[in-house]
Amino acid sequence: MTGLLYVVGLGPGSGEQITQEACLALTQATDLLGYGPYVARAVALGAAKTAIAHETDNREELDRARHALTLAQQGRVPVVVSGGDAGVFGMASAVFEAVSEGPSSWREIDIRVLPGVTAVLAAASRIGAPLGGDFCVISLSDNLKPWDVLAKRLRLAAEAGFVIALYNPRSLARPDQLDRGFAVLRDVLSGETVVIFARAIGRPGERIESTVLAQAEGASADMSTLVLIGCAQTRQIERPGRPPWFYTLRRIP
Ligand SMILES: C[S@@+](CC[C@H](N)C(=O)[O-])C[C@H]1O[C@@H](n2cnc3c(N)ncnc32)[C@H](O)[C@@H]1O
Repeated sequence: MTGLLYVVGLGPGSGEQITQEACLALTQATDLLGYGPYVARAVALGAAKTAIAHETDNREELDRARHALTLAQQGRVPVVVSGGDAGVFGMASAVFEAVSEGPSSWREIDIRVLPGVTAVLAAASRIGAPLGGDFCVISLSDNLKPWDVLAKRLRLAAEAGFVIALYNPRSLARPDQLDRGFAVLRDVLSGETVVIFARAIGRPGERIESTVLAQAEGASADMSTLVLIGCAQTRQIERPGRPPWFYTLRRIP
């Protein structure tokens, strides 16, 4: 192997939800590459003080990956950082795409992908056990895939009875996306289906709201929100003066 490159998931936000191996990789970094807020988080989480920060815009993922691979070949120890898990709508696939399109010598680099707590797991653990049965994750961003594909995946996931976790539910550029998604789901699911908005889990401004599909509004979400849609086996436990718990039965009665 020639060169070493880490691709690291930093977890959802809280410094307590990063793995020990991710922390260790950060201490070995000569270079940190990622979207600015994640690089800042890596520094706060104890990255080597000598590491050079290469903060780039989130739309430059392939360039960032190529830069990291080039640094690794030069004998440095670049660490590419993502929020949550780097393999879930994160930087890991951009790194491998760059390898597959790049010089054959990049295939000699020792690329180590270190997992992180992805947003759906962080959100689920706050509210009970909503992922007890089968579930799927879908990114609602149509920057990278056409709306038709997205709508089809939503409809089929709902028909199949999955609990559905929606990443990237809404942005300034796509203010209506989530409402369009809810409209697709309403064609298939009962209006009583549980919908959870889990915002900024593990970060300042954390907020959790629950409603039912018939009343769910896209305006309840922003780009820091994970939206969880329950299934027919998802149950709610009311608690006086406290937020309810949610869980999904592991069996289909
Ligand atoms: C580009 S994706 C990155 C996902 C990340 N790689 C992961 O594994 O969590 C960004 C989306 O993840 C979700 N997300 C990330 N961190 C979150 C958090 N702390 N709380 C709630 N949702 C979060 C939001 O839906 C956000 O729009």
